[in-house]
Amino acid sequence: MRTTHLPKMHLTPQLALFLAVIAAPASLSNAQTSSESGTTNATEAPSVSIPVLQIKADQVTAHVSPMLYGLMTEEINYSYEGGLYGELVRNRSFKANAANPVFWNNVGGGVISLDTNQPLNSALQVSLKLDTSKASAKSPAGIANDGYWGIPVRPNTPYRASFYAKGKHFHGPLTVAIKSRDGQTIFASATVPKISGEWQKYEVTLTVGNVVASKDNQVVISTTRPGTFWHRHGTVWFQQVSLFPPTWNNRPNGNRPDIMQLLADMQPKFLRFPGGNYLEGSIIAERFNWKETIGDISQRPGHRSPWGYWSTDGMGLLEFLEWCEDLHMQPVLAVYAGYSLRQQHVDPGPKLEPYVQDALDEIEYVTGDATTKWGAQRARDGHPTPFELKYVEIGNEDAFDRSHSYDGRFAQFFDAIKAKYPDLQLIATTPVKSRVPDLVDEHYYRSQEEMEAHALDYDQRPRTGPKIFVGEWATRVGSPTPNMAGALGDAAWMTGMERNSDLVLISSYAPLFVNVSRLTGPDHSMQWRPDLIGYDALSSYGSPAYYAQVMFSTHHGDEILATDSQNIPTRDWHPPARRRGGVEQPQPSVQQIRQIFFDATRDSRTGTVYLKVVNELGTPQRVKIQISGATGVEPEGTAIVLQADSLNDTNSLQEPGKVVPFTESVTGLGTDFTREFPPYSITILELKTSGQ
Ligand code: AHR
Repeated sequence: MRTTHLPKMHLTPQLALFLAVIAAPASLSNAQTSSESGTTNATEAPSVSIPVLQIKADQVTAHVSPMLYGLMTEEINYSYEGGLYGELVRNRSFKANAANPVFWNNVGGGVISLDTNQPLNSALQVSLKLDTSKASAKSPAGIANDGYWGIPVRPNTPYRASFYAKGKHFHGPLTVAIKSRDGQTIFASATVPKISGEWQKYEVTLTVGNVVASKDNQVVISTTRPGTFWHRHGTVWFQQVSLFPPTWNNRPNGNRPDIMQLLADMQPKFLRFPGGNYLEGSIIAERFNWKETIGDISQRPGHRSPWGYWSTDGMGLLEFLEWCEDLHMQPVLAVYAGYSLRQQHVDPGPKLEPYVQDALDEIEYVTGDATTKWGAQRARDGHPTPFELKYVEIGNEDAFDRSHSYDGRFAQFFDAIKAKYPDLQLIATTPVKSRVPDLVDEHYYRSQEEMEAHALDYDQRPRTGPKIFVGEWATRVGSPTPNMAGALGDAAWMTGMERNSDLVLISSYAPLFVNVSRLTGPDHSMQWRPDLIGYDALSSYGSPAYYAQVMFSTHHGDEILATDSQNIPTRDWHPPARRRGGVEQPQPSVQQIRQIFFDATRDSRTGTVYLKVVNELGTPQRVKIQISGATGVEPEGTAIVLQADSLNDTNSLQEPGKVVPFTESVTGLGTDFTREFPPYSITILELKTSGQ
């Protein structure tokens, strides 16, 4: 709970101690603003308690990690299926439920059921059976699918429909159509004239004309023929019924362009995949078994996600890699390490060997050339060129493994991978003693206050151990996507990571995506909140926290500058009492949390200094900014600002642009100036300096 937002400008004993502690690679920087918003020059006498941020342009403490800002992703909240992955048909392979063809409806007098006697192949051993015997011209019989809470229809757009089918006493024709849910409007249709008695793939293009975009639609495959001339009781079986809109870079099994554009705008440097819990699975048999996620999508069996729904694995290992390729990201490949969520684990030693071999094969699939077994497989799958790979993470959140087997499991993976790939950087998911990992992955899901209270933690971390990957972090405020309070907590936290990115080499917010179509109740689309980017079948939006990340990721230099500060306002925070082993722990003592956060980096080529200032107060803050060690600062610069009127302000499908950054020119800058930072704001000041 928030207490007050009134600034306390005096130095309490706690604050004095706090400030004394944060010396190391230091923090705090400068700022300025447009004349309208209150930049003044040094001749104005600052009030005694005005916050002061000092940037020491002649002291480079370290270099910004070029990989700092990336993405973390897994199948949660309908991230891929019903999200980024372009497929529009839900339960296309009929394996989401073994008893019923869930998400499928019959049309007209058609009777539908699952049939395990007509498998397409050993991966897709069930099919959807349609009894067509009641079909007529007046009442076509067929199957219909509403997609993931709707099938999006966009004007002047071609859709690629495909399915496998075989008929008995039925030769077609079949009509494939995109219709409104009430069946009254047909947006596009095409006919498959003849259906074989053996499994065969059929493909048609459905071209939607100049209509208004909508999502309450369905895809329907139907027939007016009950059977053949000789047998009026026909049956047709379906498998892998698919509908794809145009995709990013026109990849055939590709991604949704609007969401890809949101990601591209973040300029992420890496993608951590495939999880998260999704890597581990609830049980070992439901892990992300990468070998079953490659090749033709009709040969992928799919599996249940630990987040409670089926994945067809249409988004498989190669699709993840191509996603990286499309956005110029490096893969941070998480390999399954012998532990699944419900405490199944594989002991280190001979039993673990097949899993280690799977990881080696996986790395070879990613990086090997066509002379290697798995590199050749990747080439056959359509991508002859190897992918660049630098980071491999061994497992996920193995601190939760109550058998405490991770130290041994990590050592076995580490030794095998380093022996074959000595240049790979290996990431442990929790501290280990058996080996020295290159990086350790730390996860932080926190309230706004906790994020801010910990924003200076990395200033204190010794530089003697492994580097840090903050592989999952988020300020958990707002639902389904973070509000401005979340963005402020995130921004405070990011100033700490950026200022210490000699230690924190890579970082990624989590979770990335949420389908916001049905937030609660049966068949809900959200398993975790908040999530950075929201969407339904038709539209998508970025949260305020998303825009904070766009700002941070796209505006920083390569050098971290030493900083200092005085008179930073603070507020009281009563940390919540924790429970441990079911027992309430004593109430922790009150803490002082800063209300202004900052860091400064510089582009060594241009001399531009990027000063990031986070004002979490609900009042404007006049801040004095002093730059030492530079002969000059040009009077004109730029400010990029994200600001909200309330902590609860947020974006949504209805109001995607309520809280978005704006850019303004600012004047009156120099080596000593004052700027007023708006309430609840994140500001990046670009200052053109000379003479370092
Ligand atoms: O991001 C949601 C989940 O949080 C991840 O799957 C898991 O790694 C963590 O516990």
